Amino acid sequence: MTISLTDLEKEKDLALSELQQVVDEESLNQWRLAHLGKNAPVSQAFATLATMSKEDRPLMGKSANTVRVALEAGMAEKREVLHQEALAQALQAEKLDVTLPGRPAQPGRIHPLNQVLRQIYRTFGDMGFQIYRSPEVETDDFNFTYLNMPPYHPARDMWDTFYTNREGVLLRTHTSPGQIRVMREYAPQDIRAILPGATARYEQLTARSEIEFIQVEVLVVGKGITFAEMKGTLLDFARRTFGEHARTRLRPSYFPFTEPSAEMDVECYICGGKGCGVCKGTGWLEILGCGMVHPLVLQYGGYDPAVHSGFAAGMGIDRSTLMRYRIDDIRHFRNNDIRFLEQF
Ligand code: DAH
Repeated sequence: MTISLTDLEKEKDLALSELQQVVDEESLNQWRLAHLGKNAPVSQAFATLATMSKEDRPLMGKSANTVRVALEAGMAEKREVLHQEALAQALQAEKLDVTLPGRPAQPGRIHPLNQVLRQIYRTFGDMGFQIYRSPEVETDDFNFTYLNMPPYHPARDMWDTFYTNREGVLLRTHTSPGQIRVMREYAPQDIRAILPGATARYEQLTARSEIEFIQVEVLVVGKGITFAEMKGTLLDFARRTFGEHARTRLRPSYFPFTEPSAEMDVECYICGGKGCGVCKGTGWLEILGCGMVHPLVLQYGGYDPAVHSGFAAGMGIDRSTLMRYRIDDIRHFRNNDIRFLEQF
């Protein structure tokens, strides 16, 4: 099929007028096949060039080229128009009315555990203690061995432990491993630090016991630190927390990482010592374990027990917060129910 210059001119007008009808990508594609595809008149005009005489060829070539450029330009322009239309549609679809009133924010409260923690930070801060953070995921060595519990030690059974599937890595069962970390960082300087944080034990979940709970560890290391200083510091802490007339008592106890070890009770702040349901009629509430840091633990921390001594204490926050606010179920602490949190 041969094509004349007039045919080409007509084809151009036809194509451009058809382009007006194109409304989407699909019809544009059809248009492209019809007017710029292999069988389109312009393409055929190029194909016939070879068979044309030397005189006619330049004119035909030039015209065909002009038409093709015009069609391609028309197509590009159309494509841009379609693109803009699609964009405008999308914007319309996600239109926002910025004049609508917002949803009221639900103001939170400070979690009761954090309230108690902050009070403890303030109390120890006033006494010159620093807060030291140590990891919640620990190694067996820090959680047990360096605390004077080598692998065969039966006292390890005092803590039901969550082990990870990485050998020797576990969730700390208490904040005591932080003692080693703070000592290793500061040895041979004096230390007065508290170490708060989450701990975990593999226990039955009940209204009174959780698998995750918060402890605060206390550590003092220096030259000539004595049991009397421990007693004085902890009594001071109790009075700043429970009132200046709060009474405490120390009972002998056992922990592998302290020697000697004790537990401290505070007179029941619910019944004032008369005996009630919370203190189970005893008039006393146990609040912490404590003792003089074991020489081996000092050594693992990088201190010479012939030169340095120290005391440590550890307390759980959850159960005492439960009692203080008379909360009926420990699981409320981690349920994230705003109705619970609003009450504090
Ligand atoms: N780590 C002990 C526990 O979780 C508590 C404790 C007792 C910590 C005596 C101490 C301490 O630092 O001296 O049961």
